[in-house]
Parts: sequence; structure tokens; C-alpha cells
Amino acid sequence: ATAEKGGFPSFMDKEIHDQPKAVADTLRGRFGLDGRLQLSEMNIDESILKSVDKIVVIACGTAAYAGQVAKYAIEHWCRIPTEVELAHEFRYRDPVVTEKTLVVAISQSGETMDTVMAVRHAREQGAKVIAICNTFGSTIPRESDGVLYTHAGPEIAVASTKAFLSQVVACYLLGLYLAQLRGNKYNDEIQVILSELEAIPGKIEQILEGTKQQITDFAIRHKHEQSVLFLGRHVGYPVAMEGALKLKELAYIHAEGFAAGELKHGPIALIDEGQMVIIVVPSQRGRDSLHAKVLSNIQEVRARGANAVVIAEEGETGVEEFASEVFYVPETTTLLAPLLATVPLQVFAMELATAKDLDVDQPRNLAKSVTVE
Ligand code: G6P
Repeated sequence: ATAEKGGFPSFMDKEIHDQPKAVADTLRGRFGLDGRLQLSEMNIDESILKSVDKIVVIACGTAAYAGQVAKYAIEHWCRIPTEVELAHEFRYRDPVVTEKTLVVAISQSGETMDTVMAVRHAREQGAKVIAICNTFGSTIPRESDGVLYTHAGPEIAVASTKAFLSQVVACYLLGLYLAQLRGNKYNDEIQVILSELEAIPGKIEQILEGTKQQITDFAIRHKHEQSVLFLGRHVGYPVAMEGALKLKELAYIHAEGFAAGELKHGPIALIDEGQMVIIVVPSQRGRDSLHAKVLSNIQEVRARGANAVVIAEEGETGVEEFASEVFYVPETTTLLAPLLATVPLQVFAMELATAKDLDVDQPRNLAKSVTVE
């Protein structure tokens, strides 16, 4: 078993370290000689993709958070209204779906029954369905019109890591491809994003080499934590929710992810002395108004005695004085930041669970793939 784990103590640890390769493999082979994206594997007429007037992403669990990231990117690049919905909610609420709706079903296993049922429902309404899936020939791609495979390789640990990052990458590729196809005004930006994507594997490597030990030491010191809140804004919001999910799944700690802007509308009542709050800070270089707003969230929780822990971009100058701990990740462009900011949160949950002597590969009560509704 140690050999299968590539010398790592758990499959999850191995899979976290597989992430640079998972991202690189998911990008590979999807460009034509002219450098433009080539996704004919999706098997849906270009004319249909050009006339799509709405995208609905359906998924469960971690895959749904990949979908949340996709929404920010696809709406920005393609100007196509995009919704994200949990597959089990979508199926039973009579959603508005037409022949002009593109449904994107995200699933690592391709066997999640809630997502299968949602795919069937969408197709019955005449929608085209594209699967984003990590398992060749599984039910969801077989029942969809087209498929964009993630090439993360088999994921054994129940809690998803490398599959999540590859799902996010596949969503970016889909968004950029639609933008390219529809001749959107963001053509220059597409090229910049594509070259940024190519740089992501090396940057994940840097986090694993440079920051993992700091996170491990921190997790060990905090193994008695009872409750952890996560805050993020814009694409940092789904990252916060994914960080909270990982901590629940692996370490059995009460954890919630909130949109940082929502803090003042309720969650701030939870803050008291010693409450750990992990805050994903947007780049100082990008949307500066958001950066300042999240910084003031840090000060607000800090003023109420919280233990503020920050994920920030290298070069960030505003957080050290308010945070008790800062985990730095390399710079990237705003919309791609989840590919980096998620990694320290995965490591944190895994190391905290390990410090509590829990089985990180097979947490209690969970299944890798839930094949019942
Ligand atoms: C289960 C797993 C989660 C996973 C979810 C969706 O609940 O425990 O880790 O995110 O299913 O799985 P899928 O295979 O559809 O991505």
C-alpha cells in the first residue's frame, strides 16, 4: 500500500502532491497549432454552442464548488448568464431549461446518482449537456451530449483534491473556448489567461515545497479547535466554502464558509475571543476595492478577539499587522486564484485530521461516490 501511495502517508497526501500534474494533464492536448483552444471532443455543434443563452452547472459536494468558480469566470469571459445549482435541488424544483440552455454536469466519479438524475431531467427538457468528468466511460459522460474529461488520474481518498483543481481547470477551458467561439471582446485576455494557466502547476509546486511545513506546524498547534469560519469574496468565496467542507469531512470540526461581504449581516455574531477565522484575501494588484473591503473584514473580526488566519498573495503588504498567521501563495490573475488558494486549505484540513489521529483517506460516514439519491 505504501508503494501505491508513492511514499506518502496517505492517498490524500499523494493526491495533493499530484495536483501540478493533474492540472498540466488537464490542459494538455487541448490547443491547436495556432495556439487556439480546440475542444471538438465536446461533440456539440458549434452553431448550438454559439446560440446558448444560459448555462446551468449542476454538481454535488466539492464539484459544486468548482462550478461556483466557473460561474465567475464564464460570466466574465462569455457574458452568458450562468447559474450553479446542487444537482438534487435542480432536479426537483421545475427549473427553467430550454433548447438554448447548456447544462454542465461536473462529477469526479461520473456515478453520483443525484447528478445522473439531474442530467436526465435536463435532457428531457431539450437542453444540451456537457459532462466534466474524471472517470472514462462512466454513467454521466455516457448520458451526456459531450464530455470534457479531467485528467487527474484515479482519486482514491474520499475527500476530493486533485479532481477539484482539474474540474476548475476544465471549467476555465470551457469558458475560454466559448468566449473564443463567440468572438467575445476578451480575446487578448484569453491569451493572457491561457499562459497564466500554463504557469499554475509550477506555482502549486512552490506552495507544496515552500509552505506545506508551515501549514503542518500550524495545524498541529490547532488540533483542539472546535469551530473554524472561512471567509472569501468573489472567487475566494467558493474557496472558503471548499476549505470549510474539507475541514468538516476530514477533521470533524464545525466549519462554515461565508461570503466576506455577508459577515456584517449575521456571521459576525459568532465571533468572540479566540474564534479562528480563515480569510482568503483577493490580490492587492487586482480589484483593489475588494482587497480593501476584505482587509477591513480582517480588522472587524480581529477587533472582536478572533484569531485571524490569512491566505494571501506573495507581495501582499496589508495583512501582517492584523493576522496571527499568513500563508502566502504565488501571484496569479484574479480568476485563476482558486487554483492556488485552495491548496493550503486542503493541506490544513489533512494535517489537522492527521494530528487528531483520524483516517484522512476514509473519513467516517462518507463514501467516495454516492450512487443513491
Ligand atoms: C461524495 C464525495 C465528495 C464529492 C461528491 C461528488 O459526496 O464524498 O467528495 O465531492 O460525492 O462526487 P462526484 O464524483 O460527483 O464529483
